[in-house]
Amino acid sequence: MSLLDVSGLVVNRAGVGVVRGTSVTAEAGQISVLLGANGAGKTTLLEGIAGIAPVAAGRVVLNGADLTRASPGDRARAGLALIEQGRTVFARLTTEENLRVSMDPETGPENAYALFPELRQRSGIAAGMLSGGEQQMLVIARALLARPRVLMIDEMSAGLAPVIVSRLMKAVRRLADEGMAVLLVEQFASLALAIGDRAYVLRRGGVVYEGGCDTLARDPERLHHLYLGDAPVGRGE
Ligand SMILES: Nc1ncnc2c1ncn2[C@@H]1O[C@H](COP(=O)(O)OP(=O)(O)OP(=O)(O)O)[C@@H](O)[C@H]1O
Ligand SMILES: [Mg+2]
Repeated sequence: MSLLDVSGLVVNRAGVGVVRGTSVTAEAGQISVLLGANGAGKTTLLEGIAGIAPVAAGRVVLNGADLTRASPGDRARAGLALIEQGRTVFARLTTEENLRVSMDPETGPENAYALFPELRQRSGIAAGMLSGGEQQMLVIARALLARPRVLMIDEMSAGLAPVIVSRLMKAVRRLADEGMAVLLVEQFASLALAIGDRAYVLRRGGVVYEGGCDTLARDPERLHHLYLGDAPVGRGE
């Protein structure tokens, strides 16, 4: 069984099925990449898993424990973390004060600084003064200090230069290599597929492709058609 096992999830918005019987998994030490066009239902799926959006059917199971009816807080305590789309830093607090919000006082911010040495150099500066890329590093660092078992990240790359996005992707890969399970929603499909293990393509709330990231990375034509919706539903290796 997978560390995170989401099966047959249904989330309705204003009476309409936005996530329609969707199943995804995340494994310790691996990155599951969730792709799909704007409006495909990626954010809503993560919100259903995190307990922010009401789930009409299906199950969310973490390490064998059924969390489908658990509150968002209980899910977080069970080890499920979501970095929401557009999540920002506390602008008036310093970088280190931002980290203190979620860090264990025993271990301190060291794990965050090990992942992003840039943040150590900026530790005493108001977070609002950091560059966009540094702010996103801080958002990720803050989440990792809470030591989640599963980290869900919704579009960390919005508005950032590709070179910064690559830097963030490498950091996410390192988190997975250290044992975290990552569920990554990303618009830069090729960058995400390059660091991911398992790929899902979502269209109109349903999975139209599930398979290895490498298989999809080698076939950009197919990915293009999956986004457009004129490729057959399928599986990869
Ligand atoms: N609170 C809501 N009320 C009504 N409709 C909603 C609500 N939230 C989302 N939707 C609709 O659900 C669909 C899926 O939205 P969602 O934000 O999950 O897509 P997404 O795949 O994350 O898109 P993007 O890539 O643009 O972030 C869209 O058609 C959206 O308009
Ligand atoms: Mg979204």
